[in-house]
Amino acid sequence: MQTATAPNEWKTETVKANRVNRPQLISEIDMEQSPRIKMPDEEFNRVLGDGLVPGSLVLLGGEPGIGKSTLMLQIAIRLKNLKVLYVSGEESEQQIRMRAQRIGMDDVQCYILTETSTQNIFKQIEAIEPNIVIIDSIQTLYSAVYESAPGTVSQIRGCAGELLRFAKETATPVFLIGHITKDGAIAGPKVLEHMVDTVLQFEGDRHHIYRILRSIKNRFGSTSELGIYEMQGAGLKEVPNPSQLLLSQRDHTLSGTAVACTMEGMRPFLIETQALVSTAVYGIPQRSTTGFDLRRLNMLLAVLEKRCGFRLGTKDVFLNIAGGLRVEDPAIDLAILCAILSSGEDIAIPPSVCFAGEIGLTGEIRPINRIEQRIREAARLGFEKIFISRYNLQGDEAKKIKDIEIVTVSKVEEVFSALFG
Ligand code: TYD
Ligand code: MG
Repeated sequence: MQTATAPNEWKTETVKANRVNRPQLISEIDMEQSPRIKMPDEEFNRVLGDGLVPGSLVLLGGEPGIGKSTLMLQIAIRLKNLKVLYVSGEESEQQIRMRAQRIGMDDVQCYILTETSTQNIFKQIEAIEPNIVIIDSIQTLYSAVYESAPGTVSQIRGCAGELLRFAKETATPVFLIGHITKDGAIAGPKVLEHMVDTVLQFEGDRHHIYRILRSIKNRFGSTSELGIYEMQGAGLKEVPNPSQLLLSQRDHTLSGTAVACTMEGMRPFLIETQALVSTAVYGIPQRSTTGFDLRRLNMLLAVLEKRCGFRLGTKDVFLNIAGGLRVEDPAIDLAILCAILSSGEDIAIPPSVCFAGEIGLTGEIRPINRIEQRIREAARLGFEKIFISRYNLQGDEAKKIKDIEIVTVSKVEEVFSALFG
């Protein structure tokens, strides 16, 4: 790796001269900030923390084929009043135009550049002076300063560093798209996480229509917010009211399903969990999950076995979260456990019942956050009964919420007898 500066490296003399390079008293630092840029996509704004901060460097990661290019192109062609430069090292102009047509465009200020050399990209940036730059993808970029091939760690880091300097010195926001492999253990975009201001992850199951935009790191906002999209024939559609999205088309007579009242960010979600418990035919029992941590499932099964005396050691257990989403909220535990019990006993849980509680190692049902908001949402969606931890709502608090029966439980056995008698 060379340390000498490249001849075409990003520089603007005027900005350099304005740079603050002496210490300032913290109380005297100018708080005046340029306003955030509102994106033409409410879900995206939510995840960024109420809009895009000028000069920020945002990394958008995700598996190949999940819809990263579609999402960014869609935003680029809908940003009507801003000049956007979309740099692609992966697709031809024609391919991008076709995609844009599919999403639907008219009267747009979006420039497409197919280029991989950062030196050339900066030349075009100086000519066009875009308000926002999108790089698809960081793995295809190449800077003449570094000798290694595109996609190597030193190229990725070096190119991102050049773009970072450009973003900060000109206050132009830059998006970097980065591919991430299934296990997430990539040498690529991961090395950038400390450099960029915001790391967004686009995830979901390619065979399902739902996509989630998550923020993993955000210097300008919270990381608990989510954006939800549906992948349709004409691009990604925002899902502003997702709470009941994962409940439709349920067959109420089947055992093995239970509805969890979870929270993602500030929004409550009612999600169906499905379990299938069957006798292992091939000796070693199988445990498999979609959308849920396998180790956590093993923990729940151990709790059922040890604390409640269910013989699941010889059973296959399969677990599925509807819609291909991955849920990390521990409040889903209780529903999962009930789905497993329901399948094991082959007794269906009534469709008007939902659950919100975390399971501890001793089999106790632990309180969770924002319980009132969850209960209200469940009531709003027409659920008639919700099981929660006894330690969550005490005394009169619970009674205040009308339209739904709140059953408080402290042990798995209590839930079992309440459900299956
Ligand atoms: P893409 O944005 O190319 O994914 P990435 O950049 O993350 O690799 O999109 C991937 C898939 O999305 C592709 O298989 C086709 C599908 N798609 C739609 O279903 N509807 C659409 O309108 C578009 C543009 C793509
Ligand atoms: Mg792509």
